[in-house]
Amino acid sequence: MSEISLAILISGNGSNLQAIIDEIESGKLDASIKLVISNNSDAYGLQRAQKYGITNILIDHKNFNEREDFDQKIIEKIDKYNVDLIVLAGFMRILSSKFINAFKNKIINIHPSLLPKYPGLDTHRKVIENKDKEHGVTVHLVDEGLDSGQIIGFMSCEVEKTDTEESIETKIHKLEHYLYPAIIRDIQKGKIHLKNNKVFHNKIVIKNGKKYFN
Ligand code: GRF
Repeated sequence: MSEISLAILISGNGSNLQAIIDEIESGKLDASIKLVISNNSDAYGLQRAQKYGITNILIDHKNFNEREDFDQKIIEKIDKYNVDLIVLAGFMRILSSKFINAFKNKIINIHPSLLPKYPGLDTHRKVIENKDKEHGVTVHLVDEGLDSGQIIGFMSCEVEKTDTEESIETKIHKLEHYLYPAIIRDIQKGKIHLKNNKVFHNKIVIKNGKKYFN
């Protein structure tokens, strides 16, 4: 199996980017990050990329009147590197069909809820307000909708009565930092196939700390 090449799109802290970098650095993920793109100049993830000598580019959406022009600029940058997979890691822009069609079957996202429950923002708050007993993270293929593409895998955790939005966020990040590199590894190893905008082979499901496929 050959190395998988990645473009990672971020808007903020980049802790998921860091988890992927760490997995590569420790030799557990046969991947190389060709470039990191942020739409936000303050994104700490840009500094993380810089530290590891990874090409990092700021494309500020505020400099574009049309979403499609912003997307076109990102397409042009990514095209130069011919990557296998585009990894959205806290990228806070919805991508147009132009972008989705340019990279069919190649874009994945991580979302902090058990989709299809709670697409969009404020997922932890909704979990607390609704007194949910279970929460989690989902990795999915990206389509034109909001957190609506086919699910590739998810990982869940219990919500305790004492949990707050902050404690849940910490729990959720832990899950994300495990699940996202694990899914990229399974794509690299050919255990998960992305084709015709569908996921083939085994979806990763992790419940109560146990990993299994269904
Ligand atoms: C994560 O919770 C991810 O699920 C969501 O945005 C957050 C990004 O966090 N899409 P980070 O920038 O990777 O720390």
